[in-house]
Order: sequence, then structure tokens, then C-alpha cells
Amino acid sequence: MEPLVLDSRTRLLVLTGAGVSAESGVPTFRGMNGLWENHPVEAVASPQGFEANPSLVWRFYSQRRAGAADVKPNPGHDALVRWEQHLGDRFLLATQNVDGLHTKAGSQRVVDMHGNLFRTKCADCAREPFADTTVHPSGTVPKCDSCGGRLRPDIVWFGEMLDPKDLARIGEFISRQDGTRLVFLAAGTSGAVWPAAGIVDEVRSVRGDTWLVNYESAANTERFHHFVQGQSGQVLPTLAKLA
Ligand code: APR
Repeated sequence: MEPLVLDSRTRLLVLTGAGVSAESGVPTFRGMNGLWENHPVEAVASPQGFEANPSLVWRFYSQRRAGAADVKPNPGHDALVRWEQHLGDRFLLATQNVDGLHTKAGSQRVVDMHGNLFRTKCADCAREPFADTTVHPSGTVPKCDSCGGRLRPDIVWFGEMLDPKDLARIGEFISRQDGTRLVFLAAGTSGAVWPAAGIVDEVRSVRGDTWLVNYESAANTERFHHFVQGQSGQVLPTLAKLA
């Protein structure tokens, strides 16, 4: 297999999805068949779901907080930390995962595209999101200290926009002109959720090289120059040649 060469002339953008956390024991969305305790995931991960039943939404996220608190990064996460240590500012990791495992592993240049399970914001006022590991008792909805409104997880839900600052950071990395060649690697993502699924084409439009590491073929596999089929925890540790 051709190695992914990471040398001093390379900058690397990595996109990760639920598959990268799968070997740490975090279930993927597709793996849950879109259901949580028989509720469609959209019912607990959308603004409409929160309006209809905020305590159900908090029960879902409290359960995920409790579950994610104990999980450990796997060799796929660790490989990305080594690549970042080698590349420094020529590395950026955009993740769709909200479980915080990349940060736990030691990754530093991380864009949490879909938010973070361990952050909370107010649904009713503009206070800054804050770090929060609280697991709330079933049936409760935490209140905002600033306005008395309802707190909610700082997650980008179905139907919500991504933070423009996050998209700008990814866009600037893609279009950076510092004489390096751009390589993009997506891992553990079904290629079905936008705008993440379109990053491969943005990278191609500036003639970047593109790699996909995924257990199954993704919805956009044919857009990548290289497809390595397998589990990220096995493939990533041996894929790159650090030069
Ligand atoms: N290694 C690599 N790939 C894996 C592994 C593994 N160990 N296990 C599963 N996969 C692959 C699956 O084959 C699938 O293609 O990871 C992909 C996971 O797909 P999804 O569950 O759809 O996850 P993701 O692409 O991250 O979903 C994107 O959708 O539901 C929303 O906001 C949510 O962030 C999520 C987004």
C-alpha cells in the first residue's frame, strides 16, 4: 500500500466521524439505526425536539455524558496526535464527534464542527458556552444563571447551522498559500452529512490529495483519490510515513 507521506512540504487536514470513536466503544449514529430508546435521534437532537420535550433531550445527553466520561482514546486517536506533533501548524483536525476523545488523546488543533458534549449553552440568552460535565437527574432541565432560561447542550443539532468561525478556520487552512501541498484525510465518516461531506471537493478544487479511511464504502468514496478500507484504529497507526 502506498504510504501517506507527511514531510516538511505537506500540510494535512483530517476530518473524523463517529467511526473513529467506534473502537473506543462509542456507538455510531448509523450503528444505532437512528434510534435511541426507540426515539428517532432527530427527536432528541434537534431544536424542535428540545422545544417539544427538553427533559428527554437532557436525559439523552446526560446519558451520553456519563458514557463518554469513561471511554478512552484508541490507537487511531493516538496516531493523529503523533501526526500533529510532527507537523505542528501544518496540521488541522476537524471532527464531527462531540465526545471529546481527540482532546483527551492530546490533539490540540481541533475544530469541534458539531459542538462538544462537555459544553453547555443557554437556549434563551447569548451567554458564552461553558465547560460542563454535569449529568442531570432524569426529568430535569437545568436553568441558566444569567437569564433563568433553559440550558441546552452546546451541540450542533439537526437543522442547525455550523459555527461560521469553525468553517472559516477550515476554509483558511484549505486555501493557505505557504508553498506546502495540501493533503486531506477523512476517517470513520459516512460522507452523508454536510458540509463535512463536501470538504473533499473543496480540497480537490485547490488540487489537494485526498484519502479516505473507512470501514465501509462511504456515500462520497468515489470523490477520494485513495480509499483504504478498514478500521481506523488499525489503519491509521501504520498509514503515514513521517519524513
Ligand atoms: N473505523 C473506520 N470507520 C468505521 C469504523 C471504524 N472502526 N466503524 C464504523 N466506521 C464507519 C462506518 O462504516 C460509517 O461509514 O464510520 C462511519 C460512521 O458513520 P456515521 O455513524 O454516519 O457517522 P458520521 O459520518 O460521523 O456522522 C456524521 O451525522 O448524525 C450526525 O451529527 C451527527 O456527527 C454526526 C454526523
